[in-house]
Amino acid sequence: MTIDIAIVPVAGHGTRLLPATKSQPKEMLSVGRKPVVQYVVEELGLSGIRRILFITSRGKTSIEQHFDIDEQLTSYLRETGREEQLMDLEFERQAMEYFYTRQRRQLGLGHAVLCARSLVGNQPFVVALGDSIIGLHAQSDIVARMIERFDATNADVVVAFERVPRAEVVHYGIAKPRCGGAAVFELEDVIEKPAVDEAPSDLAVAARYVFSPAIFDALEKTLPGKGGEIQLTDAIRLLLKQGHKGLGVTLTDEERRFDIGNFDSYFRTFVEFALSDVQYGPALRQFVRELLEREER
Ligand code: UTP
Repeated sequence: MTIDIAIVPVAGHGTRLLPATKSQPKEMLSVGRKPVVQYVVEELGLSGIRRILFITSRGKTSIEQHFDIDEQLTSYLRETGREEQLMDLEFERQAMEYFYTRQRRQLGLGHAVLCARSLVGNQPFVVALGDSIIGLHAQSDIVARMIERFDATNADVVVAFERVPRAEVVHYGIAKPRCGGAAVFELEDVIEKPAVDEAPSDLAVAARYVFSPAIFDALEKTLPGKGGEIQLTDAIRLLLKQGHKGLGVTLTDEERRFDIGNFDSYFRTFVEFALSDVQYGPALRQFVRELLEREER
């Protein structure tokens, strides 16, 4: 069965990015030319996703507007001969259907996914975090590779993982592979933020998942954990403990995860995307070089 639906949770408060996120969603922050969530949708499109269910909340309506077709703006650009800008709105016409539901209280990522239960029903689906881009300029087919593995096995959960420096495992959910930790591996457990010497691997959860509907029952049974939130990782652990099959798929070296959830990685991501912009990158590169040389003097 081929999966064509993705849940994209975008309902979080984004407190780590205050004050930038006081009155705008973090998922709408610009990285280079586009808002984060546009990269997420374009990446999902590359992997064959055709239906997107956003889990939104108060203050996130600009996301809905972003994916609407703005006929007035299109006519204005056409009438004034701005063909180049018209091209920038091509994403509006992407072969994608959009659906929206609200998470009325921010009780965590697991709870956000559970909000989709009655809409998604009894079909497998993808979850893609709305604040994380996979691959430079979202050139990644990770979700297609995960769906392919899901279809070829009887797994109930497939999780994307990224190799991180050993010292950084303390910040992430870390895979405990049943054996090895190759491009695709069987998942025994996920350990949340382990100490460096206790980490079972250096593979960190990377913002993309494929689930069978069994995850909904696991989420219903998951009690609030850290910060009073229902954690998606806890529900995955429960599934694995119950004997459901889990797989990990590792990002390639060209396919890093860009996390927009905190300023450190947001700034780095912006700089990297802007420096590699085909039109503006070369001049920006020169400007940054001069700036750094001036600083060193
Ligand atoms: P985060 O774990 O970064 O949480 O969310 P957050 O609340 O957005 O940010 P901070 O910690 O306050 O800075 C990861 C993804 O899950 C969504 C977010 O919108 C983001 O895309 N999320 C998180 C929800 O949809 N609902 C929640 O209750 C929590």
